[in-house]
Amino acid sequence: MTDGWPHPRMRSRIAFGGDYNPEQWSLEKWREDIALMREAGVSMVTIGLWSWAVVEPREGVYDFDQLDTVIDLLHEAGIAIDLGTPTASPPAWFFATYPGARVVTREGVPLGFGSRGMASPSSPEYRRAAVGIAGALARRYADHPAVVLWHVHNEYGAPVGEDFSSHARAAFRGWLQDRYGSLEELNTAWGTAFWGQQYTDWEHVDLPGPTPSAPNPSQQLDFHRFTDHQLRACYLAERDAIRAHAAQPITTNFMAGSCPTTDLWAWAAEVDVVSNDHYLTAADAEPEIGLAMAADLSRSFAGGRPWLLLEHSTSGVNWQPRNVAKQPGEMRRNSLAHVARGSDSVMYFQWRASRVGAEKFHSAMLPHAGRDTRTWREVVQLGAQLDHLGEVAGTRVQADVAILWDAESHWAQRLPWRPSVGLDPEERIRTWYERLWRDGLTVDFAHPRADLSGYRLVLAPASYLLTRAAAANLTAYVKDGGTLVVGCFSAVVDEHDAVHEGGFLAPLSEVLGIQVHEYLPLREDESVTIDVAGQPVPGTVWQEAVVLTGATAVGTYRDGYAPGEPAVTRHVHGAGTAWYVSACPDMAGLAAVLAPAYRDAGLAGTDQPGVEVVTRTGAEHSFTFVINHTGQAARVPVHGHDALLGHAPVGGILAVDPGDVAVIRAAVTSLPSDRTRAAAHA
Ligand code: GLA
Repeated sequence: MTDGWPHPRMRSRIAFGGDYNPEQWSLEKWREDIALMREAGVSMVTIGLWSWAVVEPREGVYDFDQLDTVIDLLHEAGIAIDLGTPTASPPAWFFATYPGARVVTREGVPLGFGSRGMASPSSPEYRRAAVGIAGALARRYADHPAVVLWHVHNEYGAPVGEDFSSHARAAFRGWLQDRYGSLEELNTAWGTAFWGQQYTDWEHVDLPGPTPSAPNPSQQLDFHRFTDHQLRACYLAERDAIRAHAAQPITTNFMAGSCPTTDLWAWAAEVDVVSNDHYLTAADAEPEIGLAMAADLSRSFAGGRPWLLLEHSTSGVNWQPRNVAKQPGEMRRNSLAHVARGSDSVMYFQWRASRVGAEKFHSAMLPHAGRDTRTWREVVQLGAQLDHLGEVAGTRVQADVAILWDAESHWAQRLPWRPSVGLDPEERIRTWYERLWRDGLTVDFAHPRADLSGYRLVLAPASYLLTRAAAANLTAYVKDGGTLVVGCFSAVVDEHDAVHEGGFLAPLSEVLGIQVHEYLPLREDESVTIDVAGQPVPGTVWQEAVVLTGATAVGTYRDGYAPGEPAVTRHVHGAGTAWYVSACPDMAGLAAVLAPAYRDAGLAGTDQPGVEVVTRTGAEHSFTFVINHTGQAARVPVHGHDALLGHAPVGGILAVDPGDVAVIRAAVTSLPSDRTRAAAHA
């Protein structure tokens, strides 16, 4: 990743706009759209994502007339363009010419045309066609002053990522040969001695299709890695085809936290700027927590640099079972929460609601009912307010806490035949994240092998697959003074999904001062009680037989399979402290479990759950975002000027109305850092 954003044209502004699909409308509507975009303060739109059939109506025949006109009209209006490549939806002629390029499901069903979704990422025909159109677009628009960003494809991995076509089978074998060199190595890595699965010929190695009993877990884990690799190879091929002609930054929109097929640490290294799409989970009573987590993931994948929110919604979506509309003010809170957590843009799907097609019930910046609507008024109001936040662009968020995130570990843990279906890694991470969100602590995510030395507290809620190298990294972090908290069912297997020699948790036994002798999963409706400093903390799903080898039991099981045995442990190792939580307390119970670890780390939570306070800091000014999701006024100590309301001075306790947002700009020296604040609380 380079520091490729912002394009000079977009410096010192929070970009505002959305996906624009002019193919669906007439020239007359384009003119109306662009006038309305100006009214709303739109500064950037994404175009081109679904335009393959228009731009290349027949193989190798390009027609840029429509795109030329739209791009010029937008440019005349001063609106910058994030130019998409349309490769997430190849045209009818492509599938008719190359039926073998279709994605095939695990059950062997080829997926047909008539929707959207890429072709097989392993198909040479698809690669050639995708690189062809990406290169043609780059040749034509490389020097267009309106194009400030290239947007390759759309959401790699969605709606499909896995592919079981014959192209995929051939590519999987090649990928395995590169990875293992010999069949002997492959047999060892996959543990094929188990159930007599030894391979004697590469031609016998297949994709992990349906099997009579549990399939080989190491093979499946490698298939996840392969799928991620193939998708990324498609991105890289298009990116390089664009780069051969064009100098603007290049990105592809991630789905941080909600795409099971991509390892975004690896992807982030290949984009000039991280960009993300996020949609609220309507069934969630407090969807802003999932939003905050996705935004923090995006910032973390970006290595702390600003990132771009390329899609979210003004109100309801159309693809969830019940597409709940946003409350008045909720869109503004959502948009500004993304900015608070590091986004330098506020973009939506989509500009104008579609009359036709599968997404006609999706909200938009310009709803079907037009301008005299609540949504439009909120859009225009937000566009005007973002104009006041130009200085926020480029500033960064500083976090004292990191949560470990490793897609490989999640893939491995989710394979069949685990001790309990109740233990999902991302659900555990989300529960711990929610605890920290409610405690007002800003969180980064980190790979287990990343440099963790900048964090006071590192949490590993679900690190099932943890290599010896990663465990050594965590051990060194503690030895050097860090505080580490490890959740249950962690450090179980190595990179091949083989149990660590020495037993469960073996690579972390030294730093944690414990051994785990047995997993003790609970029945579906069973629970256990953990005694933490006299306080009963309920746990569900899981408990473990923990043996102390140096650690102290801070919490013990009152009941279940192991009454009186250690449940939560603490171990001083070198200059730091390492904790282990062998059960699954819920979010409320985690308060008691994590509070002493916060103290070890010198951190203190706040007591205003539902009020987000996040600070972005630049060279001279900091911007503290106070987002009140509650029904009561929030009272927050701040000093500075209200950046949203034309810089009115604010000092002492700021009252933020229910549902409202304030952004306080302060000179950097006058604002106590997270650390000073923590010390004051401690
Ligand atoms: C995704 C896609 C968009 C659109 C939205 C709808 O994020 O990228 O094209 O389908 O979902 O919510």
